Amino acid sequence: MSRILSAVAWPYANGPRHIGHVAGFGVPSDVFSRYMRMAGHDVLMVSGTDEHGTPILVAADQEGITARELADRNNRMIVEDLVQLGLSYDLFTRTTTGNHYDVVRTMFETVRDNGYMVVQTTRSAISPSTGRTLPDRYIEGTCPLCGAEGARGDQCDACGNQLDPTDLINPKSKINGETPEFVETEHYFLDLPALADALGVWLDEREARGNWRPNVIKFSQNILKDIKPRAMTRDIDWGIPIPGWENQPKRLYVWFDAVVGYLSASIEWARRTGDKEAWRQWWNDSSAQSYYFMGKDNIVFHSQIWPAELLGYNGQGTRGGEPGALGMLNLPTQVVSSEFLTMEGKKFASSRGVVIYVRDMLSRYQPDALRYFISAAGPENSDADFTWEEFVRRTNSELVAGWGNLVNRVGAMIAKNFGEIPEPTQLEDVDTKLLDDVKAGFAEVGNLISHHRQKAALAEIMRLVGEANKYVAETQPFKMKDPSLQGRLATVLHTLAQVVADLNLMFSPFLPHSANAVDKILGGEGTIAPMPQIMEVEDLDITNDDGSPRAYPIITGDYSSAPAWGRHEVKVGTPIEKPAGVFTKLDESVIEEELARFDAK
Ligand code: MF3
Ligand code: ZN
Repeated sequence: MSRILSAVAWPYANGPRHIGHVAGFGVPSDVFSRYMRMAGHDVLMVSGTDEHGTPILVAADQEGITARELADRNNRMIVEDLVQLGLSYDLFTRTTTGNHYDVVRTMFETVRDNGYMVVQTTRSAISPSTGRTLPDRYIEGTCPLCGAEGARGDQCDACGNQLDPTDLINPKSKINGETPEFVETEHYFLDLPALADALGVWLDEREARGNWRPNVIKFSQNILKDIKPRAMTRDIDWGIPIPGWENQPKRLYVWFDAVVGYLSASIEWARRTGDKEAWRQWWNDSSAQSYYFMGKDNIVFHSQIWPAELLGYNGQGTRGGEPGALGMLNLPTQVVSSEFLTMEGKKFASSRGVVIYVRDMLSRYQPDALRYFISAAGPENSDADFTWEEFVRRTNSELVAGWGNLVNRVGAMIAKNFGEIPEPTQLEDVDTKLLDDVKAGFAEVGNLISHHRQKAALAEIMRLVGEANKYVAETQPFKMKDPSLQGRLATVLHTLAQVVADLNLMFSPFLPHSANAVDKILGGEGTIAPMPQIMEVEDLDITNDDGSPRAYPIITGDYSSAPAWGRHEVKVGTPIEKPAGVFTKLDESVIEEELARFDAK
């Protein structure tokens, strides 16, 4: 048994999330966390909405509302979507809580006290016509590193490198096309060169264990070669105030604060459960493990900025130092990054209408159909494409005709012939073989999930579904009408009941909603895949300006009813009724309908 932190990337609250987002951070982290709990580990799964920074401010400006109003609205919408998808967070919170502000301040101050936060004079962009600061994201130019056009002042999407606006060749304002003017200003810089050796040691040690995906470890080691101090404060008025500079029109850089969310959310979780030190078991105990889930555009922040913050806080760079009040903190065990999901061959872009929002998808289709697609065909190790045709095909031929059909036939045959799970007589080789194969699946599938090979894990379960369907075709229980065959029929149906229960348990991390439905078909309570809930809470530390409680929704849940990973013998005599279908077959017309919707945007 180990303690496992599932650290899930924090979705931006600048709008609703699309299926590319949940394919990157959402479903994979949930499959992993659900499995690890069933395997007996003590999992803490945390995340929240990322609510500071320019994109939120810009979206709010466009609507003529405050950043906080926009963040409140999108936070609630994202919370609802993620719950509906069944993502089993222990705590999903937000970056605008008093708790998060306190923890971020502690991190910043300790890193600064240890000497890794240095003030440098830098040049910041202003718009010559308005005199206002021009946010980094709103400056575009040529990337000095890869030469790509359209690189932003904060990052080049083509090569993934972080940039400063002054790095850009031929910078232009995206707002009005004018060339920005650069004026001198002071900012805090994270002294990455003083942390580079320690980062390198950490990465080499991770590489030696061989668990990281090769592209992630290589990319992370590569960006160490040319490491420079990086500004951790920005000219912006929406964000966390900078300790000591509270009265300046500057705030902490959104990425400095967002990554601290993993820690602050763990602390908030502990405070809300009543054992306020409980978070330490995941952060101070060096035997605890931590897995960070995200899309590939986030790698640099999790394999460089966040570990650098932790090393600086711990006092583990070339300048030495002491950990702060939170004690010595663990660095990530693994950065689990997925690649990109495109849609009908195009990159997601809400501005151009190339988008499928999670919310829209869930309003029309079963959450497990989306989860299945993402797990079976998502961007685990390479970019992947979502097409409606493929979604319909996989849903109908794999979920409905493969797994759903097996469940229905077995449930219906047992209901009709016995009305309960029958007592088996003599097992034949064909029965034992299937039972053994499926039982062996637990070790195989579990091993694959724990190594983040979810596609292979799901393929193995589907292979076993195929074996079970073959067994039905071979043994032909539907033809055993003669009373003399009752004993054999009982054995075959008992075998099938056991196999369906086993496969359902293996599916449960992937398809939690239908796992509960299948569990009910087999006479269970329908709680083998515990579901997250929305809870309305009040901020633990701060109130609104008028003194009223600051309320917000969190996602949390009690996931302890999930059964242990492995075979649980079905009980002879459990009443079984004729089942209703678990999965909805999609009409082919869905493809045209959805493509038309997409074109209309
Ligand atoms: N908001 C970022 C994004 O959507 C992810 C932040 S992950 C965090 O790309 F941990 F840093 F919060
Ligand atoms: Zn570039």
